[in-house]
Amino acid sequence: MLSSSLGRKVVMALTGLFLVMFLLVHLSGNLLLFKEDGGAAFNAYAHFMSTSPIIRVLEIGLFAGIIFHFLEGVSLLRKNQQARPTRYAVKSPSSATWASRSMGLLGGTITIFLVIHLADFFYKSKFATPEPGVISVIDAEGTRDLYAVVREAFAVGWYSAVYVACMVGLALHLFHGFQSAFQTLGLSHRGYALLVRRIGLLYAIVVPLGFASMPVYFFLKSLN
Ligand code: HEM
Repeated sequence: MLSSSLGRKVVMALTGLFLVMFLLVHLSGNLLLFKEDGGAAFNAYAHFMSTSPIIRVLEIGLFAGIIFHFLEGVSLLRKNQQARPTRYAVKSPSSATWASRSMGLLGGTITIFLVIHLADFFYKSKFATPEPGVISVIDAEGTRDLYAVVREAFAVGWYSAVYVACMVGLALHLFHGFQSAFQTLGLSHRGYALLVRRIGLLYAIVVPLGFASMPVYFFLKSLN
């Protein structure tokens, strides 16, 4: 079942929906960045997330989910290309949206984003040795000043612009992915189709917009 075309789509759908849940949690926690307390609440939250044993276990599941989703995505893309080796000279009118035809491109953009993001934030939150210019420790418990890392990173205009552009890619990927997942799992039959579409659209706008507001906020703050 898992190696069949449908099985692979089911894996894509389930891992995708799991990542959708992660993004909601990640966004909610990151909203603490907007608290005007010099980063105290955000740093305390990030410290809890990196020391709690339950979160560590969930993190392994998260990275496994990301790798599965990525590998299955590449595999499905290659399969689709093999199924249609020659491109048509004249494009047939297609009812598929641009987002659905460009899942490979959008997925690739998000992959590059994730590599940059994990190297800059995740690595510094967990593994980098505290030293000036990299990350500092702010109390005896070893809480890292991740707020300062985020603030400094987003004070750079081009870096923030890249983040915002990637969030547009994420929005399109989520919009198509959400509906595709529900269709694959057979949860979008007639009665619910419109509801699924609306929830997917709302999610695909609100979540990337919430993330994009963070670089914009810190960049504008750095100008004052
Ligand atoms: C643009 C606003 C964002 C900010 C400020 C931000 C910030 C952070 C920070 C500080 C960390 C390391 C500490 C922690 O684990 O909480 C982190 C980890 C992570 N971020 Fe983000 N993030 C943003 C957007 C995103 C997006 C859009 C994605 C996915 C598409 C993402 C995926 C991840 C993953 C997978 C991790 C590692 C897992 C984890 O530690 O929980 N982040 N992020």
